[in-house]
Amino acid sequence: MTSGKFITFEGIDGAGKSTHIGYVAEKLRQRGLLVHTTREPGGTPLGERLREMLLHEKMHLETETLLMFAARREHLAQVIEPALARGEWVISDRFTDASFAYQGGGRKLSLDKLQVLEQWVHPNRQPDLTLLFDVPLEVARSRLDASRELDRFEQEKAEFFAATRAVYLQRAQDFAQRFRVIDSTCPVEQTHARLDQILATI
Ligand code: TYD
Repeated sequence: MTSGKFITFEGIDGAGKSTHIGYVAEKLRQRGLLVHTTREPGGTPLGERLREMLLHEKMHLETETLLMFAARREHLAQVIEPALARGEWVISDRFTDASFAYQGGGRKLSLDKLQVLEQWVHPNRQPDLTLLFDVPLEVARSRLDASRELDRFEQEKAEFFAATRAVYLQRAQDFAQRFRVIDSTCPVEQTHARLDQILATI
């Protein structure tokens, strides 16, 4: 049996990635593929409990990073690897690129530490495709729903998101084979057309 494919969605808060996950999943299902949609931090009962803490409780930067990777370890073991081994496809709303962008870029944790954790938690697994939804900071900010309470990350300042976005864009260059950058300021139909183009290649 051929292994399934692993697709990740990335971007700063407010970039609009979550809006497009359903569209991509549906397009793949129309091809007859079995597709799981999941998210990080989270994706398992334990991971969802860790998500609650990560999004709302103040903690040391290294604790935050270790918990992100702890949730990821569980997610890989319980959801991602078994599904891929069964030949099914997995779409995850964020994965390790988010740790490099947010904990590394936004919060300035050293690259070495992140690389050690990445090597520890998934030495032999990388996404087959990473869709990076990119928008200027002002656009992202204006999209955050002001009527709900913002989480710990969403409350960060503009400099934090500028650094986060810069790391995402740098990684898109460094790992150009798996990354596709999507200009998320476009109208939805245009983004869908771009997604169709990309999906035709995998
Ligand atoms: P997000 O994916 O934006 O969910 P929602 O669309 O429901 O708000 O929220 C997850 C937050 O977690 C986001 O602000 C980025 C942060 N995060 C990290 O800082 N590091 C990570 O490794 C991951 C997976 C997420």
